[in-house]
Amino acid sequence: MKRTAIYPGSFDPLTHGHISIIERGLRVFDEIVVAIAINVRKTPLFTTEERIAMIRESFPGEDRLKTESFEGLLVGYAKERGCQVILRGLRAVSDFEYELQMANMNRKLDDEIETMFMMTEETHFYVSSGLVKEVARFGGDVHGLVPPHVESALTEKFSTP
Ligand code: PNS
Repeated sequence: MKRTAIYPGSFDPLTHGHISIIERGLRVFDEIVVAIAINVRKTPLFTTEERIAMIRESFPGEDRLKTESFEGLLVGYAKERGCQVILRGLRAVSDFEYELQMANMNRKLDDEIETMFMMTEETHFYVSSGLVKEVARFGGDVHGLVPPHVESALTEKFSTP
C-alpha cells in the first residue's frame, strides 16, 4: 500500500525548515501532499498561488510531492486525498502545546488518521515564516533561512509601496 502523508500549513512563505521536513518526509513516505490551508482568519502576505509556486519551484521534478490548497477541515481533506498520516514539524517547547491540541482534535475528528512529528533540524529550530517576514519587512537579512527565490519574492513584496 502506498504510504501518503499530508503536510499541512500556511507556508507564508516556505522556509528551509519546511524544506527539511519535506525532504526527510520523502525518505519515509511514498508520497507527500503539501496542503496550504486557506484560513479566513489569517491575511497572508503571499497569495495561495504564489505559495504553491514557491513550493513547486523548490522541488523541481519531484513527482512524489504534490502541492495543493484546501479549505475546511484538514482531516476531511486528508481522507479525500487518501492520506493516512498528518506530518508536522516540531521545533521547540513552544510548538508543543499547540501541536498536541491539534493532534488530539484531529484524532477526535477522525481516528484513522495519525499525526506524526518530525523534529526540526537544529540549524532551523528558530526559523519561522512569521519571523522571516518580520525580518524581511524591516530590511534584515534572511539569506539562508529561505531559498533564493523566496528571498527575492520577499524583497519584491516589501519594496513595492
Ligand atoms: O502552519 P500553520 O499555520 O501552523 O498550520 C496550521 C494548520 C493549517 C495545520 C491548521 O490551522 C489546520 O489544520 N487548519 C485547517 C482547519 C482545521 O482542520 N482545523 C482544525 C485543526 S485541529
